[in-house]
Amino acid sequence: MKREHAPVLPGTAATDYARYMRTDELLSLQRSSAEMIHRDELLFQVVHQSAELWLKLAAADLTEATARVDAGDLATAETLLVRATLAVRLVTDDLEMFRHLSPVDFQAMQPALGNGSGAESPGWHRVQAASRQLGRAFADHLAAQGIPAAALCPTDPADPVHRLAEAMVDWDEQVSLWRFRHYQVALRVGGHAPAGTPGSKATLLGKLIGHRFFPDLWQARLRPTGDGPGTAQP
Ligand code: HEM
Repeated sequence: MKREHAPVLPGTAATDYARYMRTDELLSLQRSSAEMIHRDELLFQVVHQSAELWLKLAAADLTEATARVDAGDLATAETLLVRATLAVRLVTDDLEMFRHLSPVDFQAMQPALGNGSGAESPGWHRVQAASRQLGRAFADHLAAQGIPAAALCPTDPADPVHRLAEAMVDWDEQVSLWRFRHYQVALRVGGHAPAGTPGSKATLLGKLIGHRFFPDLWQARLRPTGDGPGTAQP
């Protein structure tokens, strides 16, 4: 190894890249070929583990965005929220990899998965809790400023309050887009009966697509005068 590439960071890994990125640990977190009962377990673990990392970043950004709202710094909160939204978009894009996982191969790996479900994802739980905190902080901010939520129709793109409200709607929309794609994956790969079938897990997933963290903000966008629904012109 050339002298300028000799590791200087603490640790025992061969390079500073490996020491800082902890690649030895990271790359040992997937089942070895000796442990696997099906080749596609690696694909399955890589997609899920990547999602957990992006969701970790999204939850951290949402938490920091909430702290910025509490401090009255809405511009930084907006920047962080836009980044969190991109992280969930990447998690959504990752679902494309399941086009390469057939229902038969997915069935074959079931014994390796035990009773595990993505519904137990720690990253997803953190993101949900952090979204609710952000909604609480924004409502507190509006109350402190004497701004009714119904007055938040985005008419002024330069106004930090309106900009953050728009970023919150974008966040809600991206989560819903993830849910829509994930629902399709459950139908296509998991072989679940479509929504509406009594007792189907897909019925639950289909309903969740309509969930919104910030329903008031969606309503407010439709009411330029704040007078209530029906005042918006087509
Ligand atoms: C082959 C791929 C996948 C299939 C067939 C699948 C299937 C399902 C099913 C059937 C449910 C309903 C709940 C239950 O299991 O009882 C569910 C829920 C869930 N899954 Fe997946 N999933 C897949 C991939 C993923 C990935 C990559 C993630 C990323 C973290 C994920 C996260 C979730 C979450 C968060 C829920 C709770 C529902 C929600 O909040 O919208 N799943 N999944």
